[in-house]
Amino acid sequence: MSGMIPETLVAEVFARTDILDVISEYVRLEKKGRHHLGLCPFHQEKTPSFTVTPERQMFYCFGCGVGGNVFKFLMLKENLTFPESVRFLAKRAGVHIPEVTSPRDEKLERFFQVNEWARDYFRQQLESREQGAPARDYLARRGITPEIRDEFQLGFAPPRWDALVNYLTRKGCRAEDLVVLGLVNRGERGTYYDRFRNRIIFPVWNASGRVIGFGGRVLDDSQPKYLNSPETPVFHKGQVLYALHLARQAIRNEGCVVIVEGYLDAITAHQYGIRNTVASLGTSLTQDQGRLLMRYTMDALIAYDADAAGVAATIRSLDLLQELGCRVRVVSVPEGQDPDGFLREAGVTGWRQLVAGATPLLEYKLARIAARTGTATAAERLAALREVIPNLHALSSEVEREEGFQIAARTLGVTWETIRGEYRRFTSHTKGNWAKTDKIAKKLHNIVTKPSQAREKAETGILRIVLHNPSLLETVKQELGDAFFKNGRHQRIFETYLRYYNQPGFAPALLANYLEETEQEIFNALMGRELDAKDQQSELKAYIEAIKRLNIREKRRELLDDLAAAERAGDRERVNRLMQEIQEVSKTP
Ligand code: UTP
Ligand code: MN
Repeated sequence: MSGMIPETLVAEVFARTDILDVISEYVRLEKKGRHHLGLCPFHQEKTPSFTVTPERQMFYCFGCGVGGNVFKFLMLKENLTFPESVRFLAKRAGVHIPEVTSPRDEKLERFFQVNEWARDYFRQQLESREQGAPARDYLARRGITPEIRDEFQLGFAPPRWDALVNYLTRKGCRAEDLVVLGLVNRGERGTYYDRFRNRIIFPVWNASGRVIGFGGRVLDDSQPKYLNSPETPVFHKGQVLYALHLARQAIRNEGCVVIVEGYLDAITAHQYGIRNTVASLGTSLTQDQGRLLMRYTMDALIAYDADAAGVAATIRSLDLLQELGCRVRVVSVPEGQDPDGFLREAGVTGWRQLVAGATPLLEYKLARIAARTGTATAAERLAALREVIPNLHALSSEVEREEGFQIAARTLGVTWETIRGEYRRFTSHTKGNWAKTDKIAKKLHNIVTKPSQAREKAETGILRIVLHNPSLLETVKQELGDAFFKNGRHQRIFETYLRYYNQPGFAPALLANYLEETEQEIFNALMGRELDAKDQQSELKAYIEAIKRLNIREKRRELLDDLAAAERAGDRERVNRLMQEIQEVSKTP
């Protein structure tokens, strides 16, 4: 929820919070000079590159580039919005922040509330002696314990048309709200009736545990097996990861996530103590779900039904996870079973064995391709190989590619040399496709040779120095004014700085609160690197001079262009004036 918090309060919370205390609750840190060093909680690493600098009240990872102030840390770590993060720390620091909500927040809050009343109603029904008996029996037959029933807030929608609608309208809910939330349908003669009838109810939550929608399962073999909430202002199917709020701590602790398909797969996994499990609630994982997961881990295990129709679509979405930099492995659930059934049959030990044998995505894809083309003849093997070359090419590092070659060699029964040969052919034939590495090389080349390099260097130099020394800000303003940056992001950072640095309780670390994501990245990199304590004044002076020189050079170039145009046009008067101006400009060193 947004809900603006006055800047003075943000500054007060900031002043009363020590970033080192907060981060130490998540990361083991060791003091190294002015920094505290530890393993980055946002990417997998073996040697520490994550730093916390109490002096600046900021964190920064030299490995993955993530950084910011204490608010940002909690936003990332606890998946909070900025105001949520401030409120969280306010409570911790004993700062009172009055509740101020926008109309939009109020509406969403009302929707959550209605959903939660509905959830409570369904739960009452499930636990009620007579009404809920068939549903409780069904769940018991599926091996679901009362404790898990409770934890997952399972409920039951009775076989009636007006049970929920009556209950909620008596609570004061508007019928239109119930329709918008997909709890109730509007009938022909303007009457309202319950959407979920005679179904076991699975509440669905967002990452903070608020109820956003429902799934309802029949008690027998009738169709459709599940009825889900439609798209609503709070329920977006492609963005939900079922049970995420129950799994997130475990995902963090285990360093990986298990993704299953169904409600019951997730519930059973949790019941068996595999708590780092979430369900995608559909066949293919969406980009949004992938992004959401990446806030918690870069290591994903996919455990879908072996016979799932959507395996192909799933693989495409797994490619996406991999492209985002995740390590993806596929757990091969035996034919005809799903994780729920398998766990109940083989137990945790069987499950652990299955997971230990999980196949890296590339290997999994190779095996599928090989199964389709066959690998009996040389021609078949070559056909399979040619199909996977683009996959090998898409891998983001040389190391992964080496590994990929080996996997391909093993799976397809071809030699390493053959693969490398085919790979070379592919890359030389598809110059256009010969993406990533080439693009980066080109970018680097441009950076080094472009004339704007000098300006970029001077701009970041100035920013870095003033960010670390607010007292030098005035000097820069006097010398160059307040709008001299050519790089728009630099300019924005500078302007924001000018706007806030005089406010009571200001610290550079607070600037990040007002910057956009891409600006924050630049800001964090500037703040993260240590400055040489001495010589900052003279360094700053050199940068200022450089900017002035560049400005003059540019001015001259513009004037020369104008001059050429004026000469072409035969405008003598203009030519003379421009000549004069050029002389003026050239005088200044
Ligand atoms: P499954 O058919 O695998 O169901 O669908 P399940 O969760 O294992 O349930 P049981 O074991 O048969 O009781 C996987 C998921 O796909 C969605 C649901 O989210 C389900 O959990 N689904 C399936 C639907 O939305 N509607 C359907 O009709 C079927
Ligand atoms: Mn199932």
